[in-house]
Amino acid sequence: MGDTGTAGERAADGAHGGDGGGAALVEAALGFVFPAALRAAALVRVADHLAEGPRAPAELAAATATDPAALTRVLRLLATRGLFGEDAQGRFRLEAAGQALRSDAPGSVRDAILMITDRTFWLPAGRMDHCLNTGGSVFEDIFNQPFFDHFAQDAETAAVFHDGMAAMSGVENGPIARAYDFPKTGTVVDVGGGQGGFLAAVLQAGPGLNGVLYDRAHVLAGHRLADEAALAGRWSTAEGDFFTDVPKGDVLVLKRILHDWQDEQCVGLLRACRRALAPGGRILVVDAVVAPDNRPHQAKDLDLLMMASLVGRERTHEDFRALLAAAGLRLTRVVPTPTVLSVVEAQALDDAA
Ligand SMILES: C[S@@+](CC[C@H](N)C(=O)[O-])C[C@H]1O[C@@H](n2cnc3c(N)ncnc32)[C@H](O)[C@@H]1O
Repeated sequence: MGDTGTAGERAADGAHGGDGGGAALVEAALGFVFPAALRAAALVRVADHLAEGPRAPAELAAATATDPAALTRVLRLLATRGLFGEDAQGRFRLEAAGQALRSDAPGSVRDAILMITDRTFWLPAGRMDHCLNTGGSVFEDIFNQPFFDHFAQDAETAAVFHDGMAAMSGVENGPIARAYDFPKTGTVVDVGGGQGGFLAAVLQAGPGLNGVLYDRAHVLAGHRLADEAALAGRWSTAEGDFFTDVPKGDVLVLKRILHDWQDEQCVGLLRACRRALAPGGRILVVDAVVAPDNRPHQAKDLDLLMMASLVGRERTHEDFRALLAAAGLRLTRVVPTPTVLSVVEAQALDDAA
């Protein structure tokens, strides 16, 4: 542009390195390499082998049964994001930002990384143009069946998803359970509660509460409520299909559930919850609430994963109000939490409580 443009044009041009923004877009397109490297590192458990201190690439490669040169190149990229560090002798160490990559660390998200980068999300995301052309999910086109049916087929595939969900939820369950003022007594039903991490957090925060973990039988087989000795006698499990039947309770929780489904399916599910709700009870939809702006928020990334791999979407405050109203429920308040999720509280429209 040289001297010919306005000051504003020159500033904008300069901000993009004088290339019209092309270099920044190329950089953005290369962004998929980082999660690919993160996945590779998580799979070979390299962080576990650095828990005791720095190690030379050859030693680390022997411990992880990997090629030393390839491992060095992967770690070099991950070091640019602060997960690993390299000393003057070329030994790699695990930095604070990489600790959660360890499988044995408190708050480990290794399983969540393996789920998010699994082929069930990765392949559909790579074909998002199919969503643009059809308005629908890509999943069935690739895997020949809907998302959750796929996981019901074999235990190994299911474990990647359900262990991943448990790890992803593990870092948010406590803060969410503490952010909402659950009643002191009564029964909390976690509808589609997976392995029970959120229900455990709720029962820990509310010693007068009992809980029911409701999900598919093959998911309940891997639940972790029994690991929590302090909760003994306060929980039970129930298996079933949440579109047709939901166990009765005073508080029904739907955490990371509605975003998996289309509006009509959500209304059916919410009606089943409405039928199971005790008088004066509450339904808690725990999901991201998309703000009406274009600022970055994880909800907008998740929204596209929901579009490509599932049939659902992330929703705005008004979307939730309309969905709940269609199921005979009234949105009473939205409680923010320290996580990316909020608690959307609802009660029956005909409930005066
Ligand atoms: C995205 S995961 C959320 C798990 C958990 N609530 C959490 O936040 O980690 C969705 C859950 O819904 C369960 N699910 C899917 N379809 C279901 C159905 N028809 N009936 C009962 N549970 C179902 C899945 O097995 C899975 O545990």
